Amino acid sequence: MRIAMKHKYSKYLNGLGLLFVVWSINFSGLNKHYFSAKPGGDPEERILARVDSVMEMMTLEEKIGQMTLFTSDWDVTGPTIRATYKEDIRAGKVGAIFNAHTAAYNRELQRVAVEETRLGIPLLFGYDVIHGYKTIFPVPLGEAASWDLEAIEKSARVSAVEAAAAGLHWTFAPMVDIARDPRWGRIMEGAGEDTYLGSLIAQARVKGFQGDDLGAVNTVVACAKHYAAYGAALAGRDYSTVDMSERMLREIYLPPFKAALDAGCGTFMTSFNELDGVPATANKFLLDEILRKEWHFPGFVVTDYTSIDEMINHGYAADQRQAAEQALDAGVDMDMQSAAYYNHLEDLVKSGDVQEEQIDQAVQRILRMKFLLGLFDDPYKYSDEARQKRELLSPEHLEASRDVARKSIVLLKNERGTLPLNRDIRKLAVIGPLADNHQDMIGAWSGAGDAKDVTTLLQGLRNVVGQRVVYAMGCEADQDNRDGFAQAINLAQSADAIVLAIGEKAYMSGEAASRSDITLPGPQLELAQRLKETGKPLIIVLMNGRPLAIPWLAEHADAIVETWFLGTQAGPAIADVLFGDYNPSGRLPVTFPRSVGQVPLFYNMKNTGRPMDPNNKYTSKYLDIPNTPLYPFGFGLSYTTFSYGDPRVSRTTMQAKGSITASVEITNTGKLAGTETVQWYIRDLVGSVTRPVRELKHFERVHLQPGESRQVSFEITLNDLKFYDKDLHYKAEPGDFQVFVGPDASTERSVKFTLN
Ligand code: NOJ
Repeated sequence: MRIAMKHKYSKYLNGLGLLFVVWSINFSGLNKHYFSAKPGGDPEERILARVDSVMEMMTLEEKIGQMTLFTSDWDVTGPTIRATYKEDIRAGKVGAIFNAHTAAYNRELQRVAVEETRLGIPLLFGYDVIHGYKTIFPVPLGEAASWDLEAIEKSARVSAVEAAAAGLHWTFAPMVDIARDPRWGRIMEGAGEDTYLGSLIAQARVKGFQGDDLGAVNTVVACAKHYAAYGAALAGRDYSTVDMSERMLREIYLPPFKAALDAGCGTFMTSFNELDGVPATANKFLLDEILRKEWHFPGFVVTDYTSIDEMINHGYAADQRQAAEQALDAGVDMDMQSAAYYNHLEDLVKSGDVQEEQIDQAVQRILRMKFLLGLFDDPYKYSDEARQKRELLSPEHLEASRDVARKSIVLLKNERGTLPLNRDIRKLAVIGPLADNHQDMIGAWSGAGDAKDVTTLLQGLRNVVGQRVVYAMGCEADQDNRDGFAQAINLAQSADAIVLAIGEKAYMSGEAASRSDITLPGPQLELAQRLKETGKPLIIVLMNGRPLAIPWLAEHADAIVETWFLGTQAGPAIADVLFGDYNPSGRLPVTFPRSVGQVPLFYNMKNTGRPMDPNNKYTSKYLDIPNTPLYPFGFGLSYTTFSYGDPRVSRTTMQAKGSITASVEITNTGKLAGTETVQWYIRDLVGSVTRPVRELKHFERVHLQPGESRQVSFEITLNDLKFYDKDLHYKAEPGDFQVFVGPDASTERSVKFTLN
């Protein structure tokens, strides 16, 4: 058999007229043959020639195998399990596996693919490395609050180093869905509500995962998901339908995907939702017209979990066969877990309902990725146990996690300098269901992260002030039981200050975790109210994967520190902030509403024809609540204070081909060094279609010593003024603009200019 294959190869190679080098590697005593193209020339062409050399030998069944992705039975992330995946690998009927990890486990699966299948095509291993593999970083929404692109890239880099050391090639991240509805649990997995910030973060994450070279042993392929508009699920209910104008799609929801693509993102995942009546997984407009024809995406498209099958439930396909045909026709290259391609593609080709060329194209894209990863050169390069041991939870990775974690913390309130705490504090009462909970602090969807590796808030504080920290849980976050109140209140009465860790359980955000009520669950608010009655300074440490409606806390707590779910180093990072070893610098990447009734509430809204006027009944407002958020997008305090001068522009008119510079002086007016995130927003005052009241266009993190001033500037170019006009052309229209600068989206400091 092997000899016959050798002959077949040589014949093919001669026919191709290219000079290939045939070499063989010995894996566990078995010979397998791979081809490397002659060095030199265009690298992409070399790869494609190698892909062709493999495809030439493949049967239709083997090709369909490459288009099939199954979960292992290990770490299942969806409703269906195929128990036969190992036999499928052996039969060459599956080309990629997810939810299988660790160097040894994946080496064995790879061995079966490489040594026991006819062609020995290596498997691709995918996994949801969402905010870390073993060293867990803050949940993505939390990390976005750092507004620190370098730190975010570093987090993805470390995650890739660990994942790649544990046998993985591919992460189903970043999630780049814009989310404007905090009821949607998956808001936790993205970068928040803003398209500009979200696009920059998407790029940082892709760069971090993929590095400069996909073939390096410490990088993984990224997957931009969920394409597209998944974050706009109706009523914030997961998997729900989406219907929106093409303008909104292009303006708000698509740019982070394009940004990910521009950063080289190797794969895209279709979303579960339908868009304008057509499920994303069969949506030619999204997959073919935009992704392939307009954006020229060279990578491959995978579906989300069973989403080909789900087109039957959507009412778009009568049966699985039709769903498979529709997905392929729209441009889906790989089927995750539906087994729809596996079951029907062969027959669909035979009956002439799909063309084999469509299959060839998908297989070419998938094999190209395997070549780029270097899997044909060494299928085991990602299965090195010594490297795995060295990399996972290394001191350097833990330090990186702590660094990102403290940068992700947002100080929402700090009355009368309650924080930072004095290290000489006599007694500190740490209370709350989340204070010592490893499982919650690690956050939802924490890869292979182990809750036992988390240093909790309680431990983090004890590391600083030892047994002067006393602790009581008080209550659970999801149980209606107040039995622990008395002990907690007693403890609080004897202490100098209370740190109350409350919020959501980790499972309350993420996939399939929408909430209709975004207040504090369980008896937690009541516990806070009772503790407030003690008269002791009440410091709230919030942990949550979405904005929460917390008006009572905003009014009555002495300090509020938003910590999201910070991962492995949560405790030390929060302690760094509470004791002032790190001056908080995080900014909200998403608006915090006063009540769920205001939702969706986001800063870049339109003005309406009747903008809110408190003295005029017939204007756009509620009877029972202000229009304003509890905390606006971009908001976050520091232990120091900053003042802004009046913004200026270098010229008041801008030519289309030129630029103007807006600038402002920032001064640190407090007593500590600190970082201010200077935010620039633009409003187009009159357009051929109406424009939002402001849009973030630039920001800069500026570190200033006490008393130090700095001139901060923003060079405005035509690109910053463009939008989809009434004919959906992306361009800037001459006219008047207003540029705002300030510490958050509610700033009124602005200056005008005119585009000629
Ligand atoms: C379903 C989720 O929507 C997606 O984000 C994830 O990557 C897959 N399951 C695989 O676990």
